[in-house]
Amino acid sequence: MSEVRGSWGSKLGFILAASGSAIGLGNIVFFSSNAYKYGGGAFYLPYLVALFLIGIPVMILELGAGRFSRRSMPNALYTIAGKRAELAGWFGALNATIITMYYIAILAWILGMWVGSLGALWRSSAVAAFGVADGEMTNSMSYFFNMISSSNPMIYVVLIWMANILIIIRGAKSIEAVVKIFVPLMWLMMIVLIIRGVTLPGGPEGILYLFTPDFSVIGDVGIWKGAFSQMFFTLSLGFGIMMAYASYLPKKNDDVLSATTISLLNCSFEFIAGLAIFSLLFAFAIAPKASSLSMIFFVVPEGIAEFPVLVGLFGFLFFTLLLMAGLTSSVSLVESVVLSVIDKFRVSRSKVLVGMFCVGLAGSLLFVLPEVVDPGLKDDGTLGFSLVDLLDHWAFGYGLLICGLLEILIIGWLYDIDALLEFVNKNARIKLGAKFKALVRYVLPVVVLSILVLSIIDEYRGGLYGNAMETGRFESLYLLAFFGWLAFSIGGAILFTVLKRRDGSGEAS
Ligand code: PFF
Repeated sequence: MSEVRGSWGSKLGFILAASGSAIGLGNIVFFSSNAYKYGGGAFYLPYLVALFLIGIPVMILELGAGRFSRRSMPNALYTIAGKRAELAGWFGALNATIITMYYIAILAWILGMWVGSLGALWRSSAVAAFGVADGEMTNSMSYFFNMISSSNPMIYVVLIWMANILIIIRGAKSIEAVVKIFVPLMWLMMIVLIIRGVTLPGGPEGILYLFTPDFSVIGDVGIWKGAFSQMFFTLSLGFGIMMAYASYLPKKNDDVLSATTISLLNCSFEFIAGLAIFSLLFAFAIAPKASSLSMIFFVVPEGIAEFPVLVGLFGFLFFTLLLMAGLTSSVSLVESVVLSVIDKFRVSRSKVLVGMFCVGLAGSLLFVLPEVVDPGLKDDGTLGFSLVDLLDHWAFGYGLLICGLLEILIIGWLYDIDALLEFVNKNARIKLGAKFKALVRYVLPVVVLSILVLSIIDEYRGGLYGNAMETGRFESLYLLAFFGWLAFSIGGAILFTVLKRRDGSGEAS
């Protein structure tokens, strides 16, 4: 089977691919905006707790289960606990598909900014978008809104999808070839940006803000929820991405060491990205407002435009870094879905790639339609921007946590967890014992379930639901996104589960 599926050429290739999946837009955009939202230093204590309590343990489970079954998530869960578990796996794969669709739409907008960084973005007096000229409009904002309300992003989406398909065309082999170049380059570019940031007058104050602990808000449940959800997203956990990548590993691997290495690489990148962004914010007294994406689209470019020299070069570096980081993550999302289909139905990779390209492209195009719904820019400007917010709310805010919870419950309770731990321990220098088992069976489900319940309470107390109902205009869109998400992820999961498997493993009894 491994010959048909291929495998990593080296362990380094695997670590680079897995850390490339983990290091993505989440590290550069969402960590900094969460940290800013929760007052800088207050965020990193819950963040560190989340890393050690959930992040590394769930990563170990995913690596162990992937290597043990040598299959992607729905099929790995099937071998563990039959069709019930397989359904949960497909639910994960379909949520991953929705996230891929808008993740790629965001990458298309980034590509638009990258094109702008070659010149147009920095030229002063860009025309105010939508005729709004209230003095608040910076060049980057104006450029961005003009770009997303044009049809160019539709071309960019096609290009980004093509890049994804090309990178995964030969599975682990072609992914490995790309990450070996992209991942070291991403670190290099980030280091250049930090050096630039912290040497700006006023820059170090941003770092102080980020690292000065503030325990006064530690009782706020929102900050814990933010840190735990961020941990799932940033480490690419819950959707079986790491399971798929680990299924390409050779028989022997120290999963505990690999999981710790990947997680620590990811979180250090996130911290240093925070250093670069916060030093910039403080050097030029810029306060991020509105959605977290505004951080990369207007806030950072606004800072870069103020650099004394080499504005174009640093802008170009920043958007190239975002593109590379985003691509090494989106390919992992696409690959995990593609591999799930290949593993179950034994169809050729090229056929699945064509199918994935068509479905994924159609979905991503929805987000970049140049449909302006809010000429006053009070909300999101275009329909696609609102849809990203809403689907992110369901597929990431809920879908990811539900998948994570199901995965933990299945591995902890339906599966012979002792056998899995024994398998992992065979090659691990640090052995997992009874405490780890108790963590998986009791602590993790309680923690993830609590975050989910808190999110639902929040939903009714206001949050996006309250906002949608209040503004009226978003009411239908909010419901449409909710039912769309449910139909696609649950309907699709049922369909893929009932279809007959052709992998020769027979139906579970
Ligand atoms: N970890 C990636 C990031 O931080 O941007 C995004 C991601 C990839 C999330 C894969 C979830 C996932 F399954």
